[in-house]
Amino acid sequence: MKKKIYVTRQLPESVLSKLRDQFEVDMWTKEDQPIPKDILLEKVKGVHGLLTMLTEQIDSEVFGKAKNLEVVANLAVGYDNIDLEAAKKYDVTVTNTPEVLNETTADLTFALLLATARRIPEGVDYIKENKWETWSPLLLAGSDVHHKTIGIVGMGNIGEAVAKRATGFEMNILYYNRSRKEKAEDRLGAKYVSFDYLLNESDFVVCMTPLTDETKGMFDAEAFSKMKNSAIFINTSRGGVVNEDDLYESLKTKDIHAAGLDVFRDEPIHRNHPLLELDNVMALPHIGSSSVETRIKMMELAVDNIERVLKGEKPKTPVK
Ligand code: DGY
Repeated sequence: MKKKIYVTRQLPESVLSKLRDQFEVDMWTKEDQPIPKDILLEKVKGVHGLLTMLTEQIDSEVFGKAKNLEVVANLAVGYDNIDLEAAKKYDVTVTNTPEVLNETTADLTFALLLATARRIPEGVDYIKENKWETWSPLLLAGSDVHHKTIGIVGMGNIGEAVAKRATGFEMNILYYNRSRKEKAEDRLGAKYVSFDYLLNESDFVVCMTPLTDETKGMFDAEAFSKMKNSAIFINTSRGGVVNEDDLYESLKTKDIHAAGLDVFRDEPIHRNHPLLELDNVMALPHIGSSSVETRIKMMELAVDNIERVLKGEKPKTPVK
């Protein structure tokens, strides 16, 4: 009998065909919406492999129902939506999609930084709303990026890819990380500093750290109060790393200058969320790794991981 796989969102057949040859594959296909929890709990019964999105909470309830489960392949580098303790308890391998999205996510991070600094969305709206009457000396004047100081919090591979882009803008690069990254220091001229120093000195504070118990809410009122009034805060990692009420207050009172946000505590962010009322917030719908090429690579990697585990082999990218 073929082993069973459940995929929690519609993915292209070109990617799934590899699995269909060897396994029985079922998929949630409804209107590109997350699968409701009660349906997921039904679907996982008897399933050996699960290909999940970050929109699903894979917790002990799910593991408890999925008695045959051998592998959960998450279509993301982040895996804060998966209860790793429970996975361990139920002896399920968890995999993610690191590396293949590094450059694409760094591109988006830098695009968001540039767009926020140079007020690009405001400029686009200005024209579309027919407001442009004349050239004017300080029309939509933003902040320079070149030769400024960028502070990267979380110097993993994506952080390094962001730093690499910053070198092209001849920026002064500071970073804060759990451990020192000497190679990044040698290659990119990045300087390892304390969190406080980074907050005090950076013109752009870029959050690239994963969401863990340790990092949850680390950008809070105290952190924002240490930043320059001219600082621009960028987050493309996870919304939970930020206390959004505190960020709102800091932006509203101009304690910091602006924020570019691709991620939020609750996604999708509610249209009435106070952050969206602020002119100095530029918000995107969690599209850091969203280029067609990279999303396909992520899918292929997730598929490959499932295939390997179900055939008794080691997955390429297990979560340790
Ligand atoms: C990830 O891979 O964790 C990203 O946030 C998804 O785009």
